[in-house]
Amino acid sequence: MPDPSTLTDPLTCLVEEHRIFRRETKSFLEQVQRYGALIGTVPLDAAPVRKFARFLEEDVDRLHGGKEEKALFPFLSGHLPPEGGPVEVLLVEHGDLRGLQHTLATSGEKLETDAEAAEVQQAVLDSAGQVHRLLDEHIEKEDTVLFPMAREVLSPKEMDDVREAFRAFEGEHGAILGRATGSPGTQERALPPFCAAGRARRDTAERA
Ligand SMILES: [Fe+2]
Repeated sequence: MPDPSTLTDPLTCLVEEHRIFRRETKSFLEQVQRYGALIGTVPLDAAPVRKFARFLEEDVDRLHGGKEEKALFPFLSGHLPPEGGPVEVLLVEHGDLRGLQHTLATSGEKLETDAEAAEVQQAVLDSAGQVHRLLDEHIEKEDTVLFPMAREVLSPKEMDDVREAFRAFEGEHGAILGRATGSPGTQERALPPFCAAGRARRDTAERA
């Protein structure tokens, strides 16, 4: 768990989400690697492949990547070179991840009809390894280069704007971290514990 003093920090939310992504990706890779020596000789269950593809599409790309692209990167653009900067590299990698997600999603569909297709099983194994490598390097860049740099260049007011943009994004699209908490159907359910805690604390401060 992060330091309680950073619980309202939007970059901490992203780092916590990265931790989940690393865990899920490693777990899926280990799962399919067990099939490595058996490709084409035993069926490969489509369900975990489709589930992992959905996780990449929903959590990694739509909810997390969308938040970075719409609620963080725009605030950094004024502080970075217009071309060839770190954000440009990260956006290319978001695109690469989408490509791998697409391969896994279509492989999952093909396995539904032929679970023993060797070339499809191989594609799943290759893509799982590539996702693991790419995501690992991508997360390392964000956690150790981009986010520390964001803390350096963004003013307190801009960081507040990022926090508000995160809340607005999660209010509209949903959040990863708070999904299992809160009462179903309430607005709080769509907010991560960090941001929800931050809002409660700020609301209290505003009333005081
Ligand atoms: Fe990220």
